[in-house]
Amino acid sequence: MKKFMGKVLALSMSIMMVLSLTACSSSDSGSGSKEGGKIGVAMPTKDLQRWTQDGENMKKKLEEAGYEVDLQYANNDIATQVSQIENMITGGCELLVIASIDGGSLSTVLTEAKNEEIPVIAYDRLIMDTDAVSYYATFDNYKVGQIQGQYIVDTLKLDEEKGPFNLELFTGSSDDNNCHFFFGGAMDVLQKYIDDNKLVVKSGQTKFEEVATPNWSTEESQKRMDNILTANYSGGEKLDVVLSSNDSVANGITNALKAAGYTKDNFPVLTGQDCDITSVKNILAGTQSMSVFKDTRTLADQVVKMVTQIMKGETVDVNDEKSYDNGKGIIPTYLCEPIFADVDNYKKLLIESEYYTEDQLK
Ligand code: BGC
Repeated sequence: MKKFMGKVLALSMSIMMVLSLTACSSSDSGSGSKEGGKIGVAMPTKDLQRWTQDGENMKKKLEEAGYEVDLQYANNDIATQVSQIENMITGGCELLVIASIDGGSLSTVLTEAKNEEIPVIAYDRLIMDTDAVSYYATFDNYKVGQIQGQYIVDTLKLDEEKGPFNLELFTGSSDDNNCHFFFGGAMDVLQKYIDDNKLVVKSGQTKFEEVATPNWSTEESQKRMDNILTANYSGGEKLDVVLSSNDSVANGITNALKAAGYTKDNFPVLTGQDCDITSVKNILAGTQSMSVFKDTRTLADQVVKMVTQIMKGETVDVNDEKSYDNGKGIIPTYLCEPIFADVDNYKKLLIESEYYTEDQLK
């Protein structure tokens, strides 16, 4: 009997040990299972709503898929992002998902990843000049620009109307490879109307370098729009339309236009991208015309699928093997679909899909 009780005690002690170990491991990762391995997720900044959502979605979905996640935001500081990636490599991450700040400054740290045979997925922005990038997942950036350009053509009825309409051009950070696609996609639609003088850029600023906005900064775009208005539109000329590659840049343009006296009744056509809350509110108030919705949940789902495929040694899902050359070769890419958004469809896109609550947009 004593022997039997001893066995029961030993058994219950080992069950307790197993239970407490399990509890320990789940509280360690804050997520449950770690059996999938550890994934590093490097995001550029928390300043912009979209990256916070991207980071949170990636963490949640990777954890649900059984991975431990090291998620870091770099405050838009390149050196911080480099050191975060170094820590991920030394901290045992088996795969890195990176949304770069400056696509051209990660070559050295990613050589370390390559030496350790750690695969790298470039997230949303392509990482340039390195052969360490295995895959790229993003939205169709060229299409984003085309949607914006076509919106301008349709809204101003450029195929029927004579014009001329006054246009100003804004894109994002020149170190973000996406900008070439956003701006290129839009200009491929708009250029012929500029050539026909239906669209006139009074500032004369049409080159990529002239229309770029450092760090996609709202303050910078506001400053540039202020200067353009003072120099070219202070004698009663009306600005009719502004191409902006994204919402943070559009917000600065809106601020400058409002300060110059434009109201919802004569507001220029103004494009954007991301459906950030401030911009959706501006769309509802008539001080931005449209945005392009890139559902970060879709991109996160796709990237988690790619992570799982890489980790299991399966064939990785891609749908574009020609468009994205990072200077060392074509990177196999998965392109998600961007969606046009304006006052007419925002409810369906953003509220019914539970991306935002009605209250967030008040
Ligand atoms: C992203 C955009 C974003 C911009 C600024 C780009 O690389 O594709 O969605 O608005 O960066 O953060």
